[in-house]
Amino acid sequence: MATLLERPMAPETSDPSLARPASEIPLVSGVPFLGNTLEMAKDPAAFFLRCYREYGSVFKVKVFGRESIVIAGPESALFMTTREGRDALRSKEYNQGVADEYGATEVINGVDGERHVRLRTLMRQGFSREAVHGQYDDLVRITDSAIARRWQVGSRLPVVSAIQYMIVEQLGMILTGQAPLDYVEDIRFAILTILNVLVTRQRPKIMLKDPRYKRARARVDELGHRMIADFQRMLDEGTAPDNLITDIIRANRDDKDLMPDRNLILTVTGPYVAGLDTAANTIAACIYGILKDPEITARVQAEADDLFAKEALGEEDIRKLPVINGAVMEAMRLWPIAVAQMRAANFDFVYDGYVIPKDSMLYVGTSVPHFMEEFYPHPMRFDVDRYQRPRAEHLQKGAYSPFGRGPHSCLGQGLAEVLMAMSIARVFHRFDLALPTPDYVLKTKTAPSPGPAMDFAIRILGERRPGLA
Ligand code: HEM
Repeated sequence: MATLLERPMAPETSDPSLARPASEIPLVSGVPFLGNTLEMAKDPAAFFLRCYREYGSVFKVKVFGRESIVIAGPESALFMTTREGRDALRSKEYNQGVADEYGATEVINGVDGERHVRLRTLMRQGFSREAVHGQYDDLVRITDSAIARRWQVGSRLPVVSAIQYMIVEQLGMILTGQAPLDYVEDIRFAILTILNVLVTRQRPKIMLKDPRYKRARARVDELGHRMIADFQRMLDEGTAPDNLITDIIRANRDDKDLMPDRNLILTVTGPYVAGLDTAANTIAACIYGILKDPEITARVQAEADDLFAKEALGEEDIRKLPVINGAVMEAMRLWPIAVAQMRAANFDFVYDGYVIPKDSMLYVGTSVPHFMEEFYPHPMRFDVDRYQRPRAEHLQKGAYSPFGRGPHSCLGQGLAEVLMAMSIARVFHRFDLALPTPDYVLKTKTAPSPGPAMDFAIRILGERRPGLA
């Protein structure tokens, strides 16, 4: 079946009466009973790529006994950003579980339409790159203190968990001015359980009854209450910083419809839910990609050394790191966090000649082009120079969507890019690192979200800047 790469990137018709019924959408062959569950669980990115190649831009998969429609490829990424795509898709079903768990009415990624626009507007500034403005030196300090806690020379360091701790500390500093050190482990445990059970639904609900989870959740609530009380007091005193939490608390005072009391805890602690696993997985994968190639490692180290030789760091300094930012972009291309975005159809619509029926559950495989040689020559090669002009391979239509597409695309993208570049730069500035063996091949996991396996460990060979320890 031809894909839209060979045809114009627009649905042939939007008239359902002229389109083929959903019953004719090809079902991907699978094994009896389990359907495609195992293949998809093992490597969802490779699975969707195979299906796209074999079945085209629309197909059905059977996972955990349920059939879902998949729209995939560059055309699906472009569709997400069209007026029709925006109107046709909603995300509530996939996110309401988290809101319910917190006793909240909603969570931003489960709200659509006008209300969603208002919530994004409220939080846009606080989640942006500018949120770090004037705090780059603090960010370096916090990153160093996270490093001091776990990165011991001569040891083997499990990377994903070490970076998870680092991200919690960095986010805490940006949101509240200090790392929530007493809460780090609870935040990490509670968030990972929530992602596993309620967001990606790869673990049973019984895990929410586990006393360890309940304790961790209660502690996250406690942190949320403290953040709310602190920021309310600072607002009263006129000393509240210009940041996300202040914006949320102020909205709660001024506009209870948009930010009711019962949504506060989830909203102020939400950045940990959104940022923890995503950024940690990507940074860990990036470290692997860099270490796999000694030449790239040397280039990253040289760039990091130049960065920290500057007297004071600013936004532009972080933006202008072609090798480090290229490495982060390669990590997001090759190990995308959101292999597919999950949506439901608001009404019958036509996609590539098929009727997608109202209320059907959809995967939107926007990451499929990441692995296509039509866009990325030698797609499996970690090539940090792809993103520089004149190559700029990611700028081809629909080719690159690590932060998703459409109305729910990552609101924290700017912040995430700063945290990731800073973490990579600092770690490679400070240490000589190595993979377990030069021929080591990264093992991956899929729960709660895709990324390097938890037992991926690097060797810390030595401090390059002992004075900084
Ligand atoms: C490597 C890092 C990250 C990646 C790859 C990533 C990816 C994504 C993706 C794919 C979505 C869209 C999900 C969907 O459409 O269903 C999303 C949404 C979101 N992300 Fe990120 N994210 C990252 C880091 C962060 C960070 C650090 C924050 C904030 C601290 C953040 C905040 C958000 C928020 C608030 C949304 C919801 C936006 C909305 O629904 O309007 N993300 N992210």
